[in-house]
Amino acid sequence: MKVTQAGAALFAAGAIAAPSNTKPVKASPRQASGACASAVTLDASTNVFQNYKLHPNSFYRDEVNKAVEAITDASLKESAAKVADVGSFLWLDTIENIGKFDPAVADLPCENILGLVIYDLPGRDCAAKASNGELKVGELDRYKTEYIDPIVEKLKANPNSAFALLIEPDSLPNLVTNADLTTCQESKTGYEEGVAYALKSLDLPNVVMYIDAGHGGWLGWDDNLKPGAEELAKVYKNAGSPKQVRGFATNIAGWNAWDESPGEFSDASDAKYNSCQNEKIYVQKFGDALKTAGHPNHAIVDTGRNAVTGLREEWGNWCNVNGAGFGVRPTADTGDELADAFVWGKPGGESDGTSDESATRYDSFCGKPDAYKPSPEAGQWNQAYFEMLLKNANPAF
Ligand code: BGC
Repeated sequence: MKVTQAGAALFAAGAIAAPSNTKPVKASPRQASGACASAVTLDASTNVFQNYKLHPNSFYRDEVNKAVEAITDASLKESAAKVADVGSFLWLDTIENIGKFDPAVADLPCENILGLVIYDLPGRDCAAKASNGELKVGELDRYKTEYIDPIVEKLKANPNSAFALLIEPDSLPNLVTNADLTTCQESKTGYEEGVAYALKSLDLPNVVMYIDAGHGGWLGWDDNLKPGAEELAKVYKNAGSPKQVRGFATNIAGWNAWDESPGEFSDASDAKYNSCQNEKIYVQKFGDALKTAGHPNHAIVDTGRNAVTGLREEWGNWCNVNGAGFGVRPTADTGDELADAFVWGKPGGESDGTSDESATRYDSFCGKPDAYKPSPEAGQWNQAYFEMLLKNANPAF
């Protein structure tokens, strides 16, 4: 993941004999135990987060609960335990990790929505190294048949549950601003066709989708707003303008404040070229550009780690920012018409990338002076970082 400027239990035939007066139970698709009584239909022309709460998924809860056990300080332990109840997105970041779907949906109540990140494009993370994926450039067929199609099956097998999908963080933004890199040039076709295939295939009644649009310090530059919106709109239209696309996602795994004014980097010498000095302005301006380009324009914004500002030496520094804190908890109460919800996109405590210079996926951004060290591989748990986020949380836990 890089954030830069330049996502049945088949009724097992039981060993216990059924009472003789009951009909044999037919195999039925797995459905969450607390799922709704009937099929869920999400209206993507409305803000579904007003009716559903982002689910505190069991995967993150387990990570946090383990972290709690490792803490000895009693008061820190008590506040850490509360993080387990915060809703966050679950990253299906490899084919194998599609296996996280079933346990996550198993305890999903009708009033909650499960957030899933679709994140496995061929040649993933083309402008960085930390999150290079398992699929290579050219493996688009595998992306479709081994990654997207199985997820579609799982979503269809759970018609009585609601899902919010965040589509492929960083991918389309990278095509807009990192077109000079050979890796991103090579990834271009796969990204565009892959995202279009994902949007088209995942366009199910119990799903809403938000496509990643970087953040204000990335596509918010004057020169990037229009091309950025046009890139998203092009792919959306190539997918046949799927009904369940609600808009875009910003600040995913990012550090920008929602409405800090005049903005964290407003003193920088190039600030005059970027009118999106906070995410609120970015949502408005990029949302306007998307509308013009013919793309749905409501947003979700990651506030998981954006409580503390003034930490980054440069706006583009994206890796394990030292001194960060947990931000506002997921809510649909954003006070902004275009912003559907503040969400926790990046599960706070999971690393952005390794600081081990000898690792294949070492990216120099994770070795910058403002990056926390030591840090494990992207996605791996960093206990010390988690505790730091907790201590610096605003609002406090
Ligand atoms: C990593 C993924 C991980 C995600 C959430 C990304 O940067 O590449 O493997 O699931 O972050 O922590």
